[in-house]
Amino acid sequence: MLEISARLEEALNKAFIKVFPKEGRSSKTSSILTDSNVVPASKPEFGDFQINCALSLAKELKQAPREIAQQITDQLQKDNDFVQICNPPQIAGPGFINLSINSKTLISEIHFRLNDKRLGVPLKKFSSEEIEEGKNNNRVIIDFSSPNIAKEMHVGHLRSTIIGDSLARVLEFCGYEVLRLNHVGDWGTQFGMLITHLKEVVPEALHKKDVVEISDLVNFYRQAKKRFDEDKIFQKQSRDEVVNLQAGDQESLIAWQLLCKQSRKEFQKIYDRLDIKLTERGESFYNKFLVDVINDLKNKNLLINDQGAQCIFLDGVIGKDGKPQPIIIQKSDGGFNYTTTDLAAIKYRLTTPPNGDGAFRLIYVTDAGQASHFSGVFQIAKIANWIPTNCQIEHVPFGLVQGEDGKKLKTRSGETIRLVDLLDEAIQRAREDLKDRLNTESRSENESFIDKVSKTVGIAAIKYADLSQNRISNYQFSFDKMLSLQGNTAPYLLYALVRIAGISRNGGDLNVSSQKIQFNESQEWALIRKLLQLDCIIAEVEKELLPNRLCGYLFELSQIFNRFYDQVPILKASEPTRTSRLALCSITADTLKLGMSLLGIPTLERM
Ligand code: ARG
Repeated sequence: MLEISARLEEALNKAFIKVFPKEGRSSKTSSILTDSNVVPASKPEFGDFQINCALSLAKELKQAPREIAQQITDQLQKDNDFVQICNPPQIAGPGFINLSINSKTLISEIHFRLNDKRLGVPLKKFSSEEIEEGKNNNRVIIDFSSPNIAKEMHVGHLRSTIIGDSLARVLEFCGYEVLRLNHVGDWGTQFGMLITHLKEVVPEALHKKDVVEISDLVNFYRQAKKRFDEDKIFQKQSRDEVVNLQAGDQESLIAWQLLCKQSRKEFQKIYDRLDIKLTERGESFYNKFLVDVINDLKNKNLLINDQGAQCIFLDGVIGKDGKPQPIIIQKSDGGFNYTTTDLAAIKYRLTTPPNGDGAFRLIYVTDAGQASHFSGVFQIAKIANWIPTNCQIEHVPFGLVQGEDGKKLKTRSGETIRLVDLLDEAIQRAREDLKDRLNTESRSENESFIDKVSKTVGIAAIKYADLSQNRISNYQFSFDKMLSLQGNTAPYLLYALVRIAGISRNGGDLNVSSQKIQFNESQEWALIRKLLQLDCIIAEVEKELLPNRLCGYLFELSQIFNRFYDQVPILKASEPTRTSRLALCSITADTLKLGMSLLGIPTLERM
């Protein structure tokens, strides 16, 4: 419906010129008229699209809104292209204009989708000249997942991983080249503490592979941190160790690499299970650029020496004491921090190759707690003039994962939950649910079926539960809810697909090409209208980076499909209705599969 809405918008703009002649328009009127005024209908009973501007125009022009709406609709109906695609507009309530696309246009759109792998979603094309001239770049960087070495990945990283991956999939599908960057925390004081501690307790771990497991490392790190906080001598030793490492000391480097390798192996296990592809480029990658960052900021007179530290003061950044709060870029001991690395990363990512990535859109997926960090870093990059005018940098924040008690998610004994355990439990519970269901349905299935279904459902449920929430809000983690076959859940969507696969197994040929199709029932039209919204929804996700919009759409689509499936006969219908309904089943299945794949969620034929 993207193209149709563009055509309606064009017809509306032509109508505006007739109804509100250009000369004599106030600036307010002009701004109302130049907005995009054709918006998706807020409820299905209002049709497909709405035009709401008659109300604001009425205020500005001091006329009755319904009268204005009437003038606009009269004009629209004189437009040939408009009349071709739209039923006569309806004026509703105080002056809303409701538009519904006529059945001829809907059917031709359905025909088109039967033969289009992209289901009507346009593929962005970029000419190589445009790309070379830096005018129209297609490269996007998504910085997501980004756990810290020697620490365990936590549920916050899980959220970042799932949300970041789905945004990457959507943007890739739209035609962008997406660099999926794992900005792992692989540098900094934590290594000083850890290496110092390990030197005493398991020195061989620092020069031999696989001596310690990640869970040991996490424990060693905890012990090291405790000593660091309590013991002045240990503190000094750790700091010296960091200096050694940063100065490139061979022994320290080897130890550091071993620790990174061990963590990486554990992270990879999670990524494999979740089917996530990422390119690791940790904080340490930017070491060689840190001095440049400082020099550049110094040359631009942006740095202020505050008690020996190099700082930037930004407008509006105020500390608890009400005084302007400095952002430290280089510590008084000469060391760099998280902010310095992120500044170097922005600069590198926006610089054209071969000295950088040459991206035009940078997206950072982290918990909302880092919002002020990113806002500071982005502002500094801006005043340092590192952001070309056509480039965009965005923080994509998300809320906390909470237990069902509304508190931070913990195990029963109060410890933080390990991600592997979370995934295992989801799969185990999916398995029990499945076995119960097989029992009540008196079905017998072999072990490999049970295994496959429970793995798919478990992982799908975890991912979908996360993605279907507006990411900004905190979300309550509940195995019972996410695994339920009822409601806005992965199993509910998977089940709609399973039903369609069942139709095909029972003799319904879903390979409908361009036969005559014809529709009479309201359940069919409702399904058609929903199917045709896919392109608009994907365009929305591309812009607003909210995967829950796509989830909500797939959920509504499944509901409308289920109503259609329950209320009208498909295989038992006579021709051409049978083929026409099979065509709708086929497009519904393709739409659900595509949508789920953009969320990174696996699907099934039977469950
Ligand atoms: N390692 C960080 C953390 O665990 C997240 C890094 C996010 N990306 C970035 N460029 N700062 O909180």
